[in-house]
Amino acid sequence: MTAANVLAIDAGTTGVTALVVDERGSVLAKGYQEFAQHFPKPGWVEHGPEEIWQATLEATRAVLAQVDQASLKAIGITNQRETVLLWDRETLGSPRRAIVWQDRRTADICDRLRAAGHEDRVTELTGLRLDPYFSGTKLMWLAENEPQTWALVQAGRYAIGTVDSYLIARMTRGTWHVTDVSNASRTLLLDLTTGEWSDELCSLFGVPREALPDLVPNWGEIATSDPATYCGLSLPIAGLAGDQQSALFGQTCFDVGDAKCTYGTGSFILTNTGSTLERSAAGLLSTAAWRSPSGELTYALEGAIFVTGAAVQWLRDGLQIVGSAAETAAIAASIDDTEGVVFVPALTGLGAPHWDPHARGMIIGITRGTTRAHIVRATLEAIAFEVRDVLDTMPGSGDLPLRVDGGAAANDLLCQIQADQVGRAVQRPRIVETTGLGAAFLAGLGSGVWDSVDDLRETWQLDREFQPTADAADADARHQRWLKAVERSKGWAQ
Ligand code: G3P
Repeated sequence: MTAANVLAIDAGTTGVTALVVDERGSVLAKGYQEFAQHFPKPGWVEHGPEEIWQATLEATRAVLAQVDQASLKAIGITNQRETVLLWDRETLGSPRRAIVWQDRRTADICDRLRAAGHEDRVTELTGLRLDPYFSGTKLMWLAENEPQTWALVQAGRYAIGTVDSYLIARMTRGTWHVTDVSNASRTLLLDLTTGEWSDELCSLFGVPREALPDLVPNWGEIATSDPATYCGLSLPIAGLAGDQQSALFGQTCFDVGDAKCTYGTGSFILTNTGSTLERSAAGLLSTAAWRSPSGELTYALEGAIFVTGAAVQWLRDGLQIVGSAAETAAIAASIDDTEGVVFVPALTGLGAPHWDPHARGMIIGITRGTTRAHIVRATLEAIAFEVRDVLDTMPGSGDLPLRVDGGAAANDLLCQIQADQVGRAVQRPRIVETTGLGAAFLAGLGSGVWDSVDDLRETWQLDREFQPTADAADADARHQRWLKAVERSKGWAQ
């Protein structure tokens, strides 16, 4: 019998991962290529579209060198969400860099729209809020600040898209301009109830509907890659989802109430709410999880935390007090307590559930006895506190174990602190690259490698379960001190 493997591309915030996944859901090969982060001004974050594409090619070549290409049946794509790009429909070249989800430049535009009374209606239609995080105000900023470029969007020459759309355009030499509901539901332009672009929102944000991609289901016949442009591969692109929804799928969270937390650049907790569009009054987002080829929409509630892994990256590249992310576990474990040091990593403002684009990072409680170990431990604790803040507001999350994944899930100390803080079991699967795995699952479903989600459930395997062991009163006291520090970080950049 010939093997049926799937190629998954995970175009994340700091790099592109390519995985080859087999029918048992095992990862056979992996390629990875980082790309540059551009910070043109404080609070601004940009990516070069061509750099994302080149990293995709590099990661793909690396993985193809390890497997039999003839075994590949389909491609799945997953991506950092909300980041917006423009490209020329003919040449596929981009007139400017992408504005990244972390970018805060539109905080004033959000304030303006809020002052004009638009927030309630925007939330009603989209399940989101007016925050620079989402794509809509980034597009408004382009229209207002780069009118010559925007004129070519209006003239139909430049296409608008998120990273998934851009990669599909590049892989197919511009034949397809498509996206899916999980990505579209992060733009502020999608009507979450119908799962279609909203004319009302397009008009509010000044975005021409014709410049947006067509919406396709999350699995099935989406597009076909062009071998001349994409590493010699002529394959169906049969799966597609934004990275957090893809991780929800990869963790096989198919039932209502199933929840996962992915530790990446930021951390994102999603709970499957099935066909019900649940709303939160406590700062969680309502979002589309996926849409089946028959049109059935599944929703999720999401707590989006902007800076977690990025804080560790900052310890490494900015402060330069650690050599690698991996060594933080040992450094943090060299002490039992931060001795009052608290780090609020609001480096790009605060997301859920605090929502303050003007908040900035803060380390408080430093004394003459403070060492790098205290700061490193405070960073890991901050990640666990941020996730607890979200889970404390997540309805129905109850006592079910929390499934974790992403790079930092490999850190045992973080998983233990997390279990102590949320007071419930934390489960780590054998494969923590769940984002890419989810894209492989979608593409495999869409191309007949798997027949149904029930086949996928069986692939999930536990690596380790962390039970809460700390004294609950002590864990709560630490969390209270964190919340006090969070209050102090708010409004700093206003
Ligand atoms: O919403 C932003 C998210 O999609 C980015 O994910 O994995 O690149 O941190 P990640």
